[in-house]
Amino acid sequence: MRSVASSRILLALFAGVLMLAGLSPVYAAPAPLLIPAPASLKIGRGEFLLDAGVVIQVRAADTQMRSAGEYLSDLIWHTYALRLPVRTGRGSGAAIELRRSARTGKPESYRVDANSRRVRITAHSHEGLLHGTRTLWQLIARGTGQGTLAIPAVRIDDAPRFIWRGIMLDSARHYQSPQFIRNYIDWMALHKLNVLHWHLTDDQAWRLQIQKYPKLTDVGAWRVPAGRAAAADIDPATGMSRRYGGFYTQQQVREIVAHAKARGVRIVPEIEMPGHATAALVAYPQLAASAKPATAVPADWGVYAHVYSVEEPTFEFLEDVLDEVMEMFPGEWIHVGGDEVEKTQWAQSPQAQARMRELGITEPAGLQGYFTQRIGRYLQAHGRRLVGWDEILTPGLARNAIVMSWRGIDGALAATAQGYDSVLSPFPTLYFDNRQGTAADEPPGRVRLISLEDVYRFDPLPDALNAQQAKHLLGIQGAVWTEHIRTEPRVGWMSFPRAAAVAELGWSQPERRDWHDFLRRLPAQFARYDALHIPHADSAFAVRVDAREQFDAQQVQLTLSTQTGAGAIRYTLDGSEPDAQSSLYREPLSLALPIDLRAASYWDAQRLSHTRHHALSRAQMQHRSSAELKLCSDNIALAMEDDAPLTGDRAVFHLDIQNPCWIYQQANLDGVERIVAAVGDVPFNFQIGEAVHKISLAKPETPHGELLVHVDGCDGPQIARIALPLTASQPAVTELASATIAAMPGRHDLCFRFAQHGIDPMRTLDWVRLEQAPAAAEERQ
Ligand code: ACM
Repeated sequence: MRSVASSRILLALFAGVLMLAGLSPVYAAPAPLLIPAPASLKIGRGEFLLDAGVVIQVRAADTQMRSAGEYLSDLIWHTYALRLPVRTGRGSGAAIELRRSARTGKPESYRVDANSRRVRITAHSHEGLLHGTRTLWQLIARGTGQGTLAIPAVRIDDAPRFIWRGIMLDSARHYQSPQFIRNYIDWMALHKLNVLHWHLTDDQAWRLQIQKYPKLTDVGAWRVPAGRAAAADIDPATGMSRRYGGFYTQQQVREIVAHAKARGVRIVPEIEMPGHATAALVAYPQLAASAKPATAVPADWGVYAHVYSVEEPTFEFLEDVLDEVMEMFPGEWIHVGGDEVEKTQWAQSPQAQARMRELGITEPAGLQGYFTQRIGRYLQAHGRRLVGWDEILTPGLARNAIVMSWRGIDGALAATAQGYDSVLSPFPTLYFDNRQGTAADEPPGRVRLISLEDVYRFDPLPDALNAQQAKHLLGIQGAVWTEHIRTEPRVGWMSFPRAAAVAELGWSQPERRDWHDFLRRLPAQFARYDALHIPHADSAFAVRVDAREQFDAQQVQLTLSTQTGAGAIRYTLDGSEPDAQSSLYREPLSLALPIDLRAASYWDAQRLSHTRHHALSRAQMQHRSSAELKLCSDNIALAMEDDAPLTGDRAVFHLDIQNPCWIYQQANLDGVERIVAAVGDVPFNFQIGEAVHKISLAKPETPHGELLVHVDGCDGPQIARIALPLTASQPAVTELASATIAAMPGRHDLCFRFAQHGIDPMRTLDWVRLEQAPAAAEERQ
């Protein structure tokens, strides 16, 4: 763990490294706080003063340049409330000049040259100009004069390491508004991320308007969410359960595509086939491989058996769809999914069997290769390249196809060895539905921790690739799957700042990759997020509190920390909001209960995290939320949001849906007489194949089941069996009647499980509390 002091030392070391590199000697200004780090940065002497007298100078005939100039002007306005006019032609005053030059080399490269008299951004391409403006905007800092803004004298020569620096956004599982998509593109672009892989169709929704097939969105864009609460929410217009959904009209898509182009971002639309297609098959069941296709757009997550048939009407349909897709999305890359295709419906279909015989295919798996090859040829004939998840890599795949490696990096290893271009988007490290912090207030997601540092330490060019293979690695991509990311602010939280790490991995040269230096630059990035209202996680800097009882149970030792160790922790104990002058945390605090702690982390005067409030009482010390308990296993461990209430805050339960079981580790049972627990229930809306049969639930003894408590592990003696209420009568979380337990002094692991009749709805623990006998409690007061 690092302290503020060591960050300062790092800064000094960084200056020292610059000196050793013969760059800028002794100049006291700190190195610019750029993310992603540029390829080459030389710091000069002095600074360019930025005030209302400065103009942004562009060439009259160059509309892209003018738009880049206006973009820069807007960025400065939104961050510093300083409006710089964009002018054509030479002026006599101070100017930031945009210039084109063919000499800057690679497609997205640029140069920024700043001294005390002028600033120049030079690039060959539109994208290069845009990147230059972003770097320039990030260079703006406090000047040496009181209250001034300035750009330090620098020479930056920069170009990306990889051409594909992407984020995949899943708009199928949950829908985001067109305005949000445009904002998201802006936020990506600020990081020099240049590919939005837009996941538009899946089992649970089809979100793209297709003129020739209106039912894709009339039917396929809407579903009744899982769970009793949604089912009971009757839409008066239809008399049926209200449906959730939405889609993007072709007009909206054109606007989004134009916006992305103006920002230098390519959109790669994804139309999933031949699996993950249930919504389309509900809309057009005649295209299904199964004789009994699904009849409602489903709300389960996971992998369905539903696949397209391999008959001619399917290909006619998909080619029509792709015609409209290609018309809306002019970019070269078109993603057609291809992941997690169940072959059983083909195996059971007489038509598919006949097709196999006709093609000389012996296994149903071969039909996926046939499918992908046909679609690949169609795209190729239209000047496009097929992109697909790594399952598409089968003999006969079109030579220009791009393989997106998600099952670790193996897909990329295999594809590049065969001469295919590949993009790395491996599960789990670059999957941003995994949570990035352990705090109980993190939004829902997968429980597995993928911290900012985990992402940053991912090697975008693994040693396992030889030089020849490396040439085929186009880049990397983070994936924002939204099964558990219901709202737009949460999409922002799960994306940023981890997308900043992806940006640096994708853009910066390997020798620039330095986690501690990235951390040093991160507070400035957070200040930009705040200025532009970019929703983001503070998990890297959030204050964690570890409370430990001391011998005298009145006294508690509090250890405060942050995930990264960066930032100064400041706290109050008097109920007031902490600020940059509040007490600085230096070492564990020994305090008497009750305690009212508020803590936040700071970088000098800049606040890095939200304030976390911990009200600790004797009772609170023996209270554990499901997030604070240990899960007995980690099969499919989720921080799952309750399905109720329909509006307002919902509980978030930590549970392994394949084994709902929790452990309260080393519970202090001295004087404990009762156990109180609150439980919720969640719809079991998961397609997990045969694994569903392995979920083991204890046999109930009462009509609605019980919560079971075992001591000294799950196989230890049962010490309580608490009857549960009827689920249907309880929309959200219910506190159960307390259970009295026998005296059992000392520390013990308590195990909590459910005895219930079926898995849907699945009972889940929300919290537990151990309560003392009044006498024992008094003794300890
Ligand atoms: C995937 O995560 N199924 C690509």
